[in-house]
Parts: sequence; C-alpha cells; structure tokens
Amino acid sequence: LQMLILAGVLGYLLGSVPFGMVVARVMGLGNLRDIGSGNIGATNVLRTGNKLAAFLTLVFDAGKGAVAVLVARALLGEDAAQLAGVCAFLGHLFPVWLGFKGGKGVATFLGILLALNFFVGLACCATWLVVALVFRYSSLAALLAAGISPFWMMYFFYGQAILLGLLLSILVYARHWANIKRLRAGTEPRIGHKS
Ligand code: G3P
Repeated sequence: LQMLILAGVLGYLLGSVPFGMVVARVMGLGNLRDIGSGNIGATNVLRTGNKLAAFLTLVFDAGKGAVAVLVARALLGEDAAQLAGVCAFLGHLFPVWLGFKGGKGVATFLGILLALNFFVGLACCATWLVVALVFRYSSLAALLAAGISPFWMMYFFYGQAILLGLLLSILVYARHWANIKRLRAGTEPRIGHKS
C-alpha cells in the first residue's frame, strides 16, 4: 500500500509541472495567463505564434502523463500504473505550484492513454486530429476525443480501465465549460487564432 501511495504522490508531482508556463517563460513568450484563454496548455501557447513552443508543451505535457504510467508499471505493476496516471492528470489540473489552478488536461490525458494502452491512445489521438483538422477547434477535438475514449477502450478490450477513462473524460468536460459555452455561441477561436 505504501508503494501505491508513493506512486500516486510522485505521479501527482510529475503531472503538476506546468510545462506550458515553463516553456513560455524560458522562450521569452510572456505569461500565458495574459494570453488568449489564459490556459497553460499547448493550444494557448500556440496563440503566442510560436509553433515550436506549442509543440514542446504538447510533448512535455503528454510525456509527463506517459512517464508516470510507464515508470509506475515497470516498478509496481498495472494498478500502480493506472493510479499514477490518474494522479498525474490531477496534478496537471490542480497543481499545488499554481494555487491548484491548472490546465485542461488534454495532452496529459492523451499521453496517459498512449502509455496505458497504445492502441486506445492512438485511436484517441487520431480522433483529436481528425476533428481538429476538419473543424479547427482544439476544444471540440478534445471533447470528442475524451468522450469517445471509453468506447475505444471497449473496442480494444481495455475494459478493466473503463472507469478510469470515464473519470478522466468527465474531468476534461468539466474543465471545458467555458469552451463549450463559446462553441455554442460561435465565439470559440479556431486553432492558431490569436484572440
Ligand atoms: O487543450 C485545451 C484545449 O482543448 C482548449 O484550450 O486554450 O482554447 O481553452 P483553450
């Protein structure tokens, strides 16, 4: 049990590193809170106009979720991997360093899924990409990718983690209320748009 708790705590701490803010700071792009949606994710980093910074944020935010899962699995097995993944996700959403006001969790969610079950992760990434390419809304892509993730889990026989998929999806939706309102009102900015 102690080892499981340790996996959870380390997962949380890893997930709580706000790479978007770090990358923006290091690359001299300013404070993300003053840019676009004010969010700390790759979509908002892209609004600075710096594609490399957005790409790095995506890779690091996804990577921290994947690393939490893979390290916990290698050391302690599948239960620890799932726990570390959930905790890394919670770390990104509620980081102690930012007064528990974190991001929306999309990149981290995808990284966790890729590490938990590569095919489920790949299917969710593909869902995100197709919706993003067709509609040009990052938030809509995230909402559909998260919403469909439990079905991909069933499809690829990763059924034992379906509750985990549901939990993460619900949290992704909860974090996107403002985006959902803007999507409904037709005021959500398209990908790369700087407002
Ligand atoms: O990855 C978060 C994305 O779905 C929405 O981000 O900055 O447009 O609110 P943002």
